[in-house]
Amino acid sequence: MSLRTILKFPDPILRQKAKKISNFDASLQNLATDMIETMYDAPGVGLAAPQIGESIRLIVVNASQEEDGEETMVLVNPEITEREGTQADEEGCLSVLDLTASVKRSQKVTVSYQDMTGESQELTVEDRFAVILQHEIDHLNGILFLDHLSTLKRALYKKKIKKLMAAKK
Ligand code: NI
Repeated sequence: MSLRTILKFPDPILRQKAKKISNFDASLQNLATDMIETMYDAPGVGLAAPQIGESIRLIVVNASQEEDGEETMVLVNPEITEREGTQADEEGCLSVLDLTASVKRSQKVTVSYQDMTGESQELTVEDRFAVILQHEIDHLNGILFLDHLSTLKRALYKKKIKKLMAAKK
């Protein structure tokens, strides 16, 4: 087990469409373990494999409803199959520094996925947990929560990051 480095915007790996997983082997298990450890250490409520530089369709989330609870779920090849309603909730991202913003999402989603043994599963969730799953599944398609903001907000953020990066050089 080891903590992995979380890639930050504008790393190009975050923009790739991640590959489907077909091998449910020990290396997948090890990667998921690293991701779980990295997520809780950050701390965050979700992490997608591309965020640690692995462009494959794997996400880990903390599904606990409790403030400090830990109920880890690992989803392989997750896909949203149904959506219902809308909600707007404040989001941030471990790969997008110094920004939180309200994002409009579906209120309820059904997600089909495979578990760590390759077994097909389905899950219907609402509210905050639905937000987390939509956010993490977006990562697998190269989409960041930034992309859901207005053009103006996005442009301002890009400008700020450019300045920060220039200052570091
Ligand atoms: Ni994120």
